[in-house]
Amino acid sequence: MPELKNDTFLRALQRQPVAYTPMWMMRQAGRYLPEYNQTRAQAGSFMGLAQNPEYACEVTLQPLRRFDLDAAILFSDILTVPDAMGLGLQFVAGEGPRFDRPLRDEAAIQALQVPDLDRLRYVFDAVSLIRRELNGSVPLIGFSGSPWTLACYMVEGAGSSDYRQIKTLLYQRPDLLHRILSINAQAVQSYLNAQIRAGAQAVMVFDSWGGVLADGLFQQFSLAYTRQVLDGLIREHEGHRVPAIVFTKGGGQWIEDVAATGCDAVGLDWTANLAAARRRVGDQVALQGNLDPMTLFGSEAGIRTEVRRVLADFGTVGNGGHVFNLGHGISQFTPPEAVAILVDEVHTASRAYHAG
Ligand code: CP3
Repeated sequence: MPELKNDTFLRALQRQPVAYTPMWMMRQAGRYLPEYNQTRAQAGSFMGLAQNPEYACEVTLQPLRRFDLDAAILFSDILTVPDAMGLGLQFVAGEGPRFDRPLRDEAAIQALQVPDLDRLRYVFDAVSLIRRELNGSVPLIGFSGSPWTLACYMVEGAGSSDYRQIKTLLYQRPDLLHRILSINAQAVQSYLNAQIRAGAQAVMVFDSWGGVLADGLFQQFSLAYTRQVLDGLIREHEGHRVPAIVFTKGGGQWIEDVAATGCDAVGLDWTANLAAARRRVGDQVALQGNLDPMTLFGSEAGIRTEVRRVLADFGTVGNGGHVFNLGHGISQFTPPEAVAILVDEVHTASRAYHAG
């Protein structure tokens, strides 16, 4: 493997000195880019794109050709894991993901098993191919959903506004929910480790629905299982640390708990304040975030002001680590020109916060 030319992202995650704040964006490969829509049309469907390593590699690289980003993220989806468990994933145009066979009774839950990783080979093949094509330019991030967030989709069968099905299970049959979560934790751990072996240089766990849980239940039903995943994760590969990021949407009140899982970095959505977060966890972990993705619909001056506010909130980096990101995925309606302004402002304005 060629030597990494830009290791700013990996250094920031490990709280090592860097000259500027590295950045990437959640959902950086996606529908706001016309070239993505073109490749997706060629592939025929979202899963056609994700399951073909050449297409997955192509769309992973697209945002890096346009913007000076400091990391690539594997193009795939968190729902590939439950799909491999046999739940039958479909992406219905304009509706989002849907499972043909959601977990709706005890028999289905008792029959659930850790999937054969061979069914996810297309993901690991994509990782190897992307690593090769990146040719050492920037590091590659692998990812998975958290056991809880995956369970939400597996039980609800689709997105949800009230999480009624999974919360009914939680309050009526916590034993069955614990069974699902335990299987998911084993599956996610093996899945991430296989991505690392295939070449992922950092990993991120998306707990996108952790924030819907009550305090106390979040720790029990989401964080405990994310911790199980991290406990068995490969943390060093090919002589390099493989940093792990945990992002909990709506998790601002639990930063100390998330930091205590043993992750290298905590991802924050835009409702959290980075100065307050840093006061709470000190420089024990790096922080990733947290510009409101809707800022990108503002004026150029507005985008630059908001970027500077996020950088100022984190403050002088010192012994800490800051990776700039959006607080959630980029909207499909974002004008690409706004991203160019964002990247420029982060890279230019952040230099003042790094020594030397
Ligand atoms: O960040 C990246 O660029 C990597 C690719 C990536 C996708 N999904 C591609 C995608 C990643 C990291 C994800 C993670 C994911 N998927 C999450 C966790 C992050 C988050 O957003 O909270 C979740 C909850 C999902 C489930 C999912 N996949 C939903 C709810 C949807 C539909 C939502 C929508 O925007 O329409 C998807 C589809 C999806 N995954 C798209 C992309 C680019 C859009 C589908 C398309 O091209 O038609």
